[in-house]
Amino acid sequence: MAILPILVAPDPRLKTPAKAVENVDAEIRQLMDDMLETMYQANGIGLAAPQVGVSKRVIVIDVARDDEEPNPLRMANPEIVWASETEQLHEEGCLSLPEQFAEVMRPTAVRVRYLDHENEIRELDADEMLGICVQHEMDHLEGTLFVDHLSTLKRNMILRKLQKARRGQPATV
Ligand code: NI
Repeated sequence: MAILPILVAPDPRLKTPAKAVENVDAEIRQLMDDMLETMYQANGIGLAAPQVGVSKRVIVIDVARDDEEPNPLRMANPEIVWASETEQLHEEGCLSLPEQFAEVMRPTAVRVRYLDHENEIRELDADEMLGICVQHEMDHLEGTLFVDHLSTLKRNMILRKLQKARRGQPATV
């Protein structure tokens, strides 16, 4: 297992659509495990491969609260096969937009088809926090960040704040 560096916006790799995984093999399983370790260490509830600079359609999620057993989800090639007509507004953050939060409108519930870590096709019905998280992570596979759902004005405000914060810090490799 390894902790991977998480890319912070603006970075062109965060805006690039990721490529489908052919097979969930040992290499992809390793990537999934490394991503989970990276996510837990950053106190995140979801992470997509483009956020660690890997252009593959892989996401990991764990929305279990601190007082619950860990419940890691490993997904390759996730697809939304159904989305509710009802939508809800919920505050989101992102490890690639540190300390920035905004309300995003999304379907209340979705059904997702994906390949699990054993290369088996599975379906997941997701609502509440899990539903929001899986949609947010799947957006990353298209090169979409949560700020891309906001008005240009709000998006630019957040991106400017990030740039300001970054200038105040020593360069990271
Ligand atoms: Ni994110």
